[in-house]
This record gives sequence, C-alpha cells and structure tokens, in this order.
Amino acid sequence: MIIDLSEKSPTEIYYTLIQSIIPRPIAWVLSDNGNGTNNLAPFSYFSGVSSKPPIVSISVGPKNPGHKKDTWRNIEERKNFVIHIAHEEMAEAVTASSASLADGQSEIDHLGLETIPVENWPLPRLKECRIALLCEKFAIHEIGKAPMGLILGNVKAVYLDNTIITTENNRLKIDAKKLNPLARLGGDDYTTLGNIITIKRPE
Ligand SMILES: Cc1cc2nc3c(=O)[nH]c(=O)nc-3n(C[C@H](O)[C@H](O)[C@H](O)COP(=O)(O)O)c2cc1C
Repeated sequence: MIIDLSEKSPTEIYYTLIQSIIPRPIAWVLSDNGNGTNNLAPFSYFSGVSSKPPIVSISVGPKNPGHKKDTWRNIEERKNFVIHIAHEEMAEAVTASSASLADGQSEIDHLGLETIPVENWPLPRLKECRIALLCEKFAIHEIGKAPMGLILGNVKAVYLDNTIITTENNRLKIDAKKLNPLARLGGDDYTTLGNIITIKRPE
C-alpha cells in the first residue's frame, strides 16, 4: 500500500508519520515563561542535527490557529531552554505535562516536579532526569501554512547523572540501560529499551 500524502489532511499525515517514525526520543523541554515560572512540555519531533556547532531540533505546532505553543513563544522571546531525557518511571508525568494550561502557568508547579539550579546557567533542570541539554536558541524556521516551528537549539553544555556514566576504550559511554529512556510510538503508546545488539562497523 502506498499512501499519497498530497491527498491527506494535516491530521491524517500526522498520524501516518508518528506511527511510521518509531521509536522517537522525547525532548522534555523546560523554557522560561518570563514571569518567574518555567514551562514544561514534551516533544517527540526531536533529533540531533550537527556536532560543531552542536545543534538539536524540535518541531512545535501551533496551540490553535494563529497561536504558538508556549514553548515556541518562550524560546523565541527568551532564547534559553533545557531539554531533558525522561526515563520510564516518568511516563505519567511526561504525558501530564502535555496538558494545555493557561498562558504563563507552570506545568512544573502543577505536577509538583522538583527543579535544581545549574551552575552558570540561567535556568534550572528537572532534578529527577538523568540527562539535560542546556540549549540556546540557534534559529527558528516556520514550516508550512499551519505553521510548525522548527526550533534549532545550540547545546552549550550537557548534564549527565553520575549513575549513567561509564567508559569504554577511554571514551565516555552512557549506560543506556541505566538511563532507561522513554520513547514515543504512535497514539498514546510509549516504549522502553528492548534488547541491545552490538555490531562492529567495518574498518
Ligand atoms: C509524548 C508527547 C510528544 C509530543 N510531541 C509533540 C511534538 O513533537 N510537537 C508538538 O507540537 N507537540 C507535541 N506534543 C504535544 C505538546 O506536548 C502539547 O501541545 C503541549 O501542551 C505543548 O505545551 P506548551 O504550549 O506549554 O509548549 C507531544 C505530546 C506528548 C505527550
């Protein structure tokens, strides 16, 4: 079967893509509401883009026609944000943080999550998450008519919890099983790591 996307509605295209591009990592994004509180929301249109500079991307849709989601508006107006990698035990909180609250209201306070300050960084990170990417806005490109905001973040520093750090051949290795990252499938489904297979690359 071939699905011709040119004949499909944005919703049908969305459902086709999110069930095809799986499993997707989840960027759990903390951004600055500008009123002394921080916003938190999950985004699974999330990827690494380049290494030097170290750029990552998230794609953020409109809240409703003509209105940007808070994360998009916050990053546009105040540049710094923090992307967390959530683990399995946080699946409920990740999902709950996608609820639409009133503008400027904090999902962090609402969910009773704990944050911790980061040295030399204006925003805190979520205390429980084992990885946090400290990002500065690099560029925002509007894609399509809706439009969708392709937000590129320059990762200035990475927080890694000591419990997930190991070494292999004198290089830093993150223990994926100990990280136990949560990933998104289509609809309301999530997944976690299954078997890890190691295959040496050709010389
Ligand atoms: C696991 C998960 C992944 C999501 N991924 C995206 C995404 O990639 N892009 C998007 O626009 N919304 C995504 N959403 C929906 C947003 O999280 C939701 O619209 C949220 O309310 C946005 O919050 P904000 O207005 O505070 O930025 C996702 C929701 C969940 C639960």
